Parts: sequence; structure tokens; C-alpha cells
Amino acid sequence: MKGTIIVCLRDMLAEQNGQSPNGWKDMLAASGMDRNRVILLSTDVDDGQTLALFGEAQKRYFKSHEELANAYGHYWSVIYAPKIYTAVYKGVKSARDFLLKMDKVHVQVTETMANARPPRFQYEEKENGDLVVHYISARGLVHLYAGLARGIGTYFGEKLDVKVLENNRVSIQFPAAAGKAA
Ligand code: HEM
Repeated sequence: MKGTIIVCLRDMLAEQNGQSPNGWKDMLAASGMDRNRVILLSTDVDDGQTLALFGEAQKRYFKSHEELANAYGHYWSVIYAPKIYTAVYKGVKSARDFLLKMDKVHVQVTETMANARPPRFQYEEKENGDLVVHYISARGLVHLYAGLARGIGTYFGEKLDVKVLENNRVSIQFPAAAGKAA
């Protein structure tokens, strides 16, 4: 997985969970990495080690996988990504439009990154306004998808009802007329 996912985790733990630089190094070591490893946005990090790192974060600071996924999703969508990927947010007026753009964004952002295997998304727009997203990735991080989507709702000031239906499907209910006023 690309280093940007890990840099965001590191920043979140430092800012929101009071993790010290040494605490981070302990987590790297516990995940099978050199404790002094430097991870940049484009660094390739082994998927197993990345997931181990999230596991270590959960063990130390969160009660469940879902709680970590929601905290991470909030930090990525509201704080980290608007700063790093400003252009992706530009001109987008609602959570629905942002989420619908994500398949293309993942393909584009990772096009120039060697060894990236971005998740893909397929969308089903229901007549009642719900959006059902098919999450396609061998990594099986559907709860992370849900946490990130909730974070996007927060970014746009919309209270989304995000439900994981299965390990590859999420349904998203938008508040009435969301984004229409913008
Ligand atoms: C500015 C917005 C975003 C950018 C630039 C971005 C970029 C990326 C990148 C570079 C990766 C690593 C891919 C790899 O290493 O192969 C990734 C992973 C991921 N992204 Fe995003 N992302 C964004 C927003 C979102 C949002 C809003 C969601 C969900 C609603 C999402 C869902 C995921 C998931 C679940 C992964 C984990 C990898 C996997 O499941 O295979 N991303 N993203």
C-alpha cells in the first residue's frame, strides 16, 4: 500500500492520540519493519505490514476495528486529504458528488505510482436516493471505506447514514436535498 495511507495514520495518532515519535517507532517494529523506517507518500509498503500497523494502532488506541476506521476516515477526509489533495476537493459541492468521483480519482492518483493497486468502486444509484457502492479490492477493507465515506459526509456538513451490507457492499443514505442548496 502507498505510504500516504500510513503517513495519514502516523499524523492522526500524533495529533489526536498523543502518540510520541518513539511510540510510532514501536509500532513500526511490532509490524515487522525497521523502527527507523522513513515512509514518504509514494513509498511502497507491504500490505501485510500496513495491516499489521493498523492492527497495532487499534490495539493501543481503539476499542474496535470500526472505531479505528471511523477515526481514520474522519482524519483522512476532513483534515489530511483536503491539505494534500486540495485539487480533488475543488469545485465539489456535495458528499454524493465527491463519493461518485472516487473511482476515477483512485485510478488517476495512482496512475503514476509504481505498484499501486487502488480499490475500485461501482455505483448503483437507487430510486429513493440511496447510493449502493460496490467496493472492489483484494484487501477487504470495507469498514475503512465506510469510515472514509462518513468522514466525507462530515466534511460537507451532511449526516450520512453509511451501512456495511457485506464485505464488498456499502449503502449510503443522504439527508434530504443534501448538497442541493450549494
Ligand atoms: C482526496 C481523496 C482521496 C485520494 C487522493 C485517495 C487516494 C488513495 C491512495 C493513493 C490509496 C492507496 C492505494 C494503493 O496503495 O494501491 C488509497 C487507498 C484507499 N482508499 Fe482512497 N483516496 C481518497 C479518498 C477516499 C475516499 C473518500 C474513500 C472511501 C469513501 C477511499 C477509499 C479507500 C480505501 C478503502 C483504500 C484502501 C485500499 C484498498 O481498500 O484496497 N479513498 N486511496
